[in-house]
Amino acid sequence: MAKYLVTGAAGFIGSSLVRALLDRGDEVRGIDNFATGRRENLTEVLSRIDFRQIDILDLDSLREACEGVDYVLHQAAIPSVPKSVLDPIGSNRANVDGTVNVLVAARDAKVKRVVYAASSSAYGDTPTLPKYEAMTPNPISPYAVAKLASELYMTSFYRCYGLETVCLRYFNIFGPRQDPSSQYSGVLAKFSMQMLRGEQPTIFGDGQTSRDFTYIDNAVSANLLACSAPASECAGRVFNCATGRRITLNEVFEALKQLTGYTGSVKYAPERRGDIKHSLADISQAEKHLRYKVLVNFEDGLRRTVEWYTTQRQPVGA
Ligand SMILES: NC(=O)c1ccc[n+]([C@@H]2O[C@H](COP(=O)([O-])OP(=O)(O)OC[C@H]3O[C@@H](n4cnc5c(N)ncnc54)[C@H](O)[C@@H]3O)[C@@H](O)[C@H]2O)c1
Repeated sequence: MAKYLVTGAAGFIGSSLVRALLDRGDEVRGIDNFATGRRENLTEVLSRIDFRQIDILDLDSLREACEGVDYVLHQAAIPSVPKSVLDPIGSNRANVDGTVNVLVAARDAKVKRVVYAASSSAYGDTPTLPKYEAMTPNPISPYAVAKLASELYMTSFYRCYGLETVCLRYFNIFGPRQDPSSQYSGVLAKFSMQMLRGEQPTIFGDGQTSRDFTYIDNAVSANLLACSAPASECAGRVFNCATGRRITLNEVFEALKQLTGYTGSVKYAPERRGDIKHSLADISQAEKHLRYKVLVNFEDGLRRTVEWYTTQRQPVGA
């Protein structure tokens, strides 16, 4: 039984990691400042973890949180492109300064490995598809720059201090507990909830925008594999975390019509600044070095997601 620290534990991905670790019998400490996460995401597991309301900008508290920890799964961030365009300083603080604090605390506490929630946004709007890890990054938004800077800090801490780090570039993760309530929410969460309520969803752009939508179980599995893979295969490295398949927003809308029973139309609005047009991952490096496999495909993931939102008597964020 190993001891894990999950930063951003009250968030969508963090709370899913917490559950998976508890299911395996691991010991979990979780930290969050509730900037975007919700205590409700941890309701039925809160009594089984050591949860601390901590901001990752508070280095002293982070040092205490890292004591006795084997692995850190660093998810805490302000995970929004539009928010970063509005507030680049705030984005940098949480997404870069916070990461450096996590690394310093983990290094000094002699944590075995830090796995980082990196982002496909680092690739930017390069026309090459699929995106592979050795490509030159081309981040557009302040959020993407911050996530890439944090990746580089991860690798730097491996090179300078020998702290083992693994970066997982998530490609549009979706699933239960993703917050659909704000204008900054992930598109699948937002559309699922809106269409279940009979509300008209809005597509920014012409709907041909495509993404490698990745169900949460795949991201959870990638994190666990990134902890257990031999250091010779993964330490100091970056891996795509995705499915290797892309779906357009128009296809998302059609699939959700079937699953939600929504009979209306979709509204089209101008593209948003900082958004990228297409995204698709080459997952061969993760398959080879982490033994990563896609566990749940887009259709099954979307069905599970809609089922979950349907069961929410009081919808998340309502
Ligand atoms: N969801 C995706 O598709 C996706 C894609 C690429 C990368 N990521 C990354 O994955 C991670 C998790 O994203 P998510 O989708 O679960 O978002 P989320 O908003 O649900 O989770 C982020 C969590 O971090 C917490 N947090 C933010 N600032 C903090 C701070 N200063 N101190 C402590 N906690 C703080 C929030 O309260 C929240 O609980 C983020 O790092 C994000 O950048 C997500």
